[in-house]
Amino acid sequence: MKITLSVIKADVGSVGGHTLPTPDMMNSAKENVKKAIKNTLLIDGLVTHTGDDICLIMSHTKGSDNPDIHKFAWDCFIQATKLADDCGCYGAGQDLLVDAPSANVRGAGPGVAEITFDHTRKDPRPAESFMIFAADKCGPGAYNLPIFLAFADPMYCAGLMLPKMIKGFSFEIIDMEETKGGDHIITLHAPKDYYKMAILLRDNERFGIKAIYSQTYNEHVVSLSTDRLHAIAGKYTGKDDPVALIRNQGIFPAPEEILSPFAKAHYVGGDARGSHNMPLMPVPINTGVAGIYCLPIVSCLGFSLTREGKFSNFYIDFFDNPAWDLVRLRAQEKAIEIRSQGWSGPAMLPYSELEYSGFKDTLESLLEQFEVRKSESKK
Ligand code: 13P
Ligand code: MG
Ligand code: MG
Repeated sequence: MKITLSVIKADVGSVGGHTLPTPDMMNSAKENVKKAIKNTLLIDGLVTHTGDDICLIMSHTKGSDNPDIHKFAWDCFIQATKLADDCGCYGAGQDLLVDAPSANVRGAGPGVAEITFDHTRKDPRPAESFMIFAADKCGPGAYNLPIFLAFADPMYCAGLMLPKMIKGFSFEIIDMEETKGGDHIITLHAPKDYYKMAILLRDNERFGIKAIYSQTYNEHVVSLSTDRLHAIAGKYTGKDDPVALIRNQGIFPAPEEILSPFAKAHYVGGDARGSHNMPLMPVPINTGVAGIYCLPIVSCLGFSLTREGKFSNFYIDFFDNPAWDLVRLRAQEKAIEIRSQGWSGPAMLPYSELEYSGFKDTLESLLEQFEVRKSESKK
């Protein structure tokens, strides 16, 4: 049987600023998922939030990019928007950038990660396990470094040296700034193209990993949401806050091999007004954003799939573990360190990336006021 995992998330409003959705909003999405399971649109589903983003994690047999599944997610977000608006929440409907999407919510605001695969539970996948990352207050390139290291570098994933993985993985990398005529995508292969991938993936604001495939088994392993909201809306409407769906274990990297690069709490673009470089802090699921800053955060759940495609009765919250306390502390220390220099140099994103157009407007008006003075020697 073919199973599709669909992860669709959106920020449709939050309490007291951009912190977390209300219980009513969460409950309405949960009720909708329950009904969709009952009427067999979905096999299973789970509703979570990371910061102010509601995430629908779903299994079904309808394939990727299915109009019914995408419409269901859109309708869930519309209902939650209404509840957010009723209670005066900040940013009600923030990520819903069109009036009604055509058949697909891709390009309409919500972030989407989907994988369809054969779920026969035979070799090479006698058991199916997967993990879902959801990040808030950052752009899609936030996963570039940790996911690259997990799937291309045996210093982080020693499993890559095993016969099942030694041929390597193929990476689809998208140019997130270029939208003319469709998605602009290049496929590169690790380990052969390791350095070439680094040239692209070092630029988190422009290039993002969209998908990863096993070269040995030709299996789709990783799917990421790579929409940049400002590229859709033409102006800043909120941060992109990406989700990632990763199949793990056996012929793919194990959870700990995928998680270990997140111990860096590496700097990513995001934080307040989407305009700073700040460390990515791993947090338990359903954590609100209430720190000293507006720190980029990431959650990660792990699931197993029954023969029938059910998953929501048992899962693990990977970052809800004492091992990550030290990383959280390090992230906070790194944040205090870089923010101590306020707006200077790399602490804030370059003007080309600053999300609030107001910063650029002021710069442009100042540039117009510059006077040209001839130097003494040229007079
Ligand atoms: P969100 O996209 O999570 O609402 O964050 C927006 C922002 O600008 C934070 O300061
Ligand atoms: Mg928000
Ligand atoms: Mg958000």
